[in-house]
Amino acid sequence: MSNSLKLNRDGDVAIVTIDNPPVNALSFHVREPLMQALIELRDDPSVAAIVIACAGRTFIAGADITEFGKPMQQPELRAIIATLETIAKPTVAAIHGTALGGGLELALGCHFRVADTGAKLGLPEVKLGILPGGGGTVRLPRLVGAVKALRMIVSGVPIGAAQAHEDGLVDAVFEGGLTTHAVNFAREIARKGGPFQPVRDRDEGLKETDLAAFDAEVAELAKKARGLDAPIACARAVRNAVTLPFNEALAAERALFVTLVGGDQSRAQRHLFFAEREAAKFPGKDTSKRRIGRVGVIGAGTMGGGIAMAFANGGYPVTLLETSHEELRRGMGTIEKNYTVSVTRGSLTEEARDERLSRFKGSTDYADLADCDLIIEAVFEDMAVKKEVFGKLDAVAKPGAILATNTSYLDINEIAASTSRPQDVLGLHFFSPANVMKLLEIVRAQKTAPDALSTAVDMARRIGKVAVVVGVCHGFVGNRMLAARGSESEALLLEGATPGQIDKAFTDFGWPMGPFQMGDLAGLDIGWRNRKARGQAAVIADTLCEQGRFGQKTGRGFYLYEAGARSPVADPEVETLIREKAAERGIAARAISAGEIIERTLYPLVNEGAKILEEGIAARASDIDVVWVNGYGFPVGKGGPMFWAGLEGAGKIIERLEYWHRQTGKDVFRPAPLLKRMAGTGSWEPDATA
Ligand code: 3HC
Ligand code: NAI
Repeated sequence: MSNSLKLNRDGDVAIVTIDNPPVNALSFHVREPLMQALIELRDDPSVAAIVIACAGRTFIAGADITEFGKPMQQPELRAIIATLETIAKPTVAAIHGTALGGGLELALGCHFRVADTGAKLGLPEVKLGILPGGGGTVRLPRLVGAVKALRMIVSGVPIGAAQAHEDGLVDAVFEGGLTTHAVNFAREIARKGGPFQPVRDRDEGLKETDLAAFDAEVAELAKKARGLDAPIACARAVRNAVTLPFNEALAAERALFVTLVGGDQSRAQRHLFFAEREAAKFPGKDTSKRRIGRVGVIGAGTMGGGIAMAFANGGYPVTLLETSHEELRRGMGTIEKNYTVSVTRGSLTEEARDERLSRFKGSTDYADLADCDLIIEAVFEDMAVKKEVFGKLDAVAKPGAILATNTSYLDINEIAASTSRPQDVLGLHFFSPANVMKLLEIVRAQKTAPDALSTAVDMARRIGKVAVVVGVCHGFVGNRMLAARGSESEALLLEGATPGQIDKAFTDFGWPMGPFQMGDLAGLDIGWRNRKARGQAAVIADTLCEQGRFGQKTGRGFYLYEAGARSPVADPEVETLIREKAAERGIAARAISAGEIIERTLYPLVNEGAKILEEGIAARASDIDVVWVNGYGFPVGKGGPMFWAGLEGAGKIIERLEYWHRQTGKDVFRPAPLLKRMAGTGSWEPDATA
């Protein structure tokens, strides 16, 4: 009937199969024949029941996101679902893979849903800054209840088939042969006879809704929304499903959808959706890959331990190497403790913990790395130590093994040159805690072979990381831009702002925490050591470190931390220190607004990003956004620094930078030529024209 949709018959059961690779999104070229097919089948007396299924790896994964922001071509999904609901004969959605967003909404337009045991069902629209716009907020609560629907819709996290069955979202679960089972299910239902109730007319989930408990849950969720509109709108729409008649709730959902989809937050989040998928692509990516069986990790400290856990969690056997048995015991002890905390919290079963721990092999002998296909070094941040380690690796690693460094700042070309196989060397810059943080900067050195890089990118996906391929420079993309932000945060302290005031401006902007809280969490000594090595200074942070104030780990940093507590308490001593240091430099305190704090810290950060793009360290502006959102907590609703720069206006950013440059002469304020060009073209693309 069309390339994207096939119609088959199995006796009196019609099977509509959507075939729109890769994920069967509901593009216009699917919606049009689907609508036509449903009308034909509805009116065909020889059809007793209809099954809607999908070809390929998944059921419908949602609306076609590339169509958002453009005029919607008819028929819309809502009209298709409304048509489905006019069909008197039984309709059955046969779900395998993922039924997401508009895909699940279409399934909710059917009388019945059957699923493969491995299927997942969810409404992830909130992650795109919108809410389900095809009636999902109104139909889902009718089946699973308002509170469960609220949790699914506000989190955007899908549930498995078994859970969906238990919750009443799915009517039957089958292992294998889904279409055949769905056809038999549909035939049997048709034989028993109707009438068949569409979900819109059902209300078993809405009976006995405790609105007070619902509102209490919404209040908790609202606290975590960090300025994002979509979670709040999702909650409001689900509440409407309880308090308003079906059609009114549906109209209210539509109005909220239209507002959100046209807003900056959703534009930003859609930008990030595609940016994350784009970031791992690079010229020559699809070269042959190397096989990764066993992974070696050198150093069982903060990073090495977390990296080893990330691989064990991803199913890889890991050899963990330390300098002594004592260090190894300490490192393994921390790993075991971390897994046990997950068991206590209920996020990991005891069996899963034991299985993961069984993947570890400890060693103090480099010869034990000989059977590893990928070896990641996470030892002290010192070029001499790193070179010594790579020298030993060169001697023992098997030919073709990928040799990676987790260095934060050091020159990976120099590290690679210290081996006889620079083509096998690259950077794998994990973020702390490495078993939790999503971002992985994959650093391509001058001589890194394309197949080594491709293998690393694939491996990153397999252990659940968001990979961004970057080039070599001091601090790569993330830490280099962080330095630009950090120097201005310090300068603002000297000019009269307090750490608390600056951190609040950041959290109000949507960051999970401000720069000083983050510094205290990560450990102020890391930056201090790096600055000393480079002959740089940060007067306040350096003085705090000289006093042994390294942040949370010492109970004192920019803030005070009560024994064992993580919440910061303002410390008058730090504020006195800041005023003393300012006085020594003849800087008078002045009132500084939250707006100025954001501009002074984030405009130089954007400017550094422009320089990184100019130098080709990042391939695209969107790669920088992916780094900042996944590695540093840049608010998703603002799309990352480079996207946000477009919202702010490059012209305004340049004007402020030039003003501060005149005032201070500092290089961080000298506008990058690319930023100037962006002001003219409105795009970071090198070939964009105004
Ligand atoms: N629209 C358009 N393109 C989509 C898409 C969608 N809904 N979902 C995925 N794609 C594209 C990706 O951009 C990617 O393209 P590329 O190969 O050119 O980079 C390709 O499909 C494969 O995607 P992934 O790399 O993400 O494949 P995975 O197998 O890792 O994951 C998935 C599959 C779980 C389905 C994941 O793609 C996903 O989560 N997709 C988005 C689901 C979603 O958000 N659905 C809701 C859409 S909004 C909606 O439905 C509104 C409605 O309420 C009206
Ligand atoms: P750490 O001090 O916690 O751990 C280093 C570990 O390496 C120690 O356990 C030490 O015993 C071991 N080690 C030292 N020399 C060794 C050798 N020759 N052979 C085997 N083991 C050896 O340090 P951390 O924080 O884990 O940093 C490690 C690397 O990761 C550094 O290059 C750092 O810049 C980088 N990094 C650190 C981040 C952080 O937030 N801590 C974030 C990203 C990268």
